[in-house]
Amino acid sequence: MRCFGFIVVGLVAVLGGLPFSSNAKLEPCFYKKTCPQVHFIVFKVVEKVSRTDPRMPASLVRLFFHDCFVQGCDASILLNNTATIVSEQQALPNNNSIRGLDVVNQIKTELEKACPGVVSCADILTLAAEVSSVLAHGPYLKFPLGRRDSLTANRTLANQNLPAPFFNLTQLKAAFAVQGLDTTDLVALSGAHSFGRVRCLFILDRLYNFSGTGRPDPTLDTTYLKQLRQICPQGGPPNNLVNFDPTTPDTLDKNYYSNLQVKKGLLQSDQELFSTPGADTISIVNKFSSGQIAFFKSFSASMIKMGNIGVLTGKKGEIRKQCNFVNKKSAELDIGSVASESEEGLVSSI
Ligand code: HEM
Repeated sequence: MRCFGFIVVGLVAVLGGLPFSSNAKLEPCFYKKTCPQVHFIVFKVVEKVSRTDPRMPASLVRLFFHDCFVQGCDASILLNNTATIVSEQQALPNNNSIRGLDVVNQIKTELEKACPGVVSCADILTLAAEVSSVLAHGPYLKFPLGRRDSLTANRTLANQNLPAPFFNLTQLKAAFAVQGLDTTDLVALSGAHSFGRVRCLFILDRLYNFSGTGRPDPTLDTTYLKQLRQICPQGGPPNNLVNFDPTTPDTLDKNYYSNLQVKKGLLQSDQELFSTPGADTISIVNKFSSGQIAFFKSFSASMIKMGNIGVLTGKKGEIRKQCNFVNKKSAELDIGSVASESEEGLVSSI
């Protein structure tokens, strides 16, 4: 049961405590005394934005993933460029791609009104992902809380750690293993590709010139190929958007896995999970495709595991006043210039 009076409708899979690193002191009721409304406030903001931007839950789940894979779930992705910070937002996998930074700031503004200086930006990213899953009809992720915010960002690590859409299975497994995530985590977390969008530029080679062959990727269904070519014509706009899931584009469900079984994975990295000959991932895809509960259980467990990567707890890091800047920077600036710099420095949602 949730420790706050906030009841999530559509609860599907609730997981008990999962192991995480021994020095971490995360717990689901971390804000029970200091900010009991935290879940409700996050829910209200994300729900409102999602009404006009149904893609936003997907974007927020991805933002959380891109934070956790780079020096841990510490909100380093939110830091803007300053004299001392080289922002991760311009790293290759993030640039003109991540969305939802302004939603995080909206949440922070509301939380600072209700419980000033209490809720970290790292936990806001976590809670935004939790709420997003529910809004997209996915599982209820009971994340433990108490993360603190980093004083640093690392663009080099963002370029290094975030997996690329042209990775083969060996490379995907390696990228997850670096984070302490196993093959089941890889397959379960890839299920997040059952909602949200992809820009054409990431699939053009699959459609027209796979690995320099001058032909499409043979692991792509030919009817689907034709449909995708209409949205992404050769030499056309690279930023046209394609739904990850042609059937339920804004729902977090097991369709991702049934799509893989019929060669309708959108990214090469998706289809690799099912089409790599003899791979141990095939049976996991089959298991998730045949039962939504199995998928939801594993997705929840793996999201919580990912949410425990490299967390700062206790006296480490800080609780940022503004998610885009470390506190020292905020203190150095007068309040007016902080506000305007923050606005301009944002990579806003498209
Ligand atoms: C396994 C390796 C992964 C690769 C190679 C990968 C790659 C990508 C790429 C290229 C995009 C499209 C970006 C764009 O068009 O600008 C994307 C979108 C997305 N990714 Fe992944 N991703 C991976 C794993 C994950 C994981 C683990 C999650 C979350 C748990 C995730 C969640 C998402 C979501 C929800 C979107 C859609 C976002 C939106 O519509 O704004 N991905 N991913």
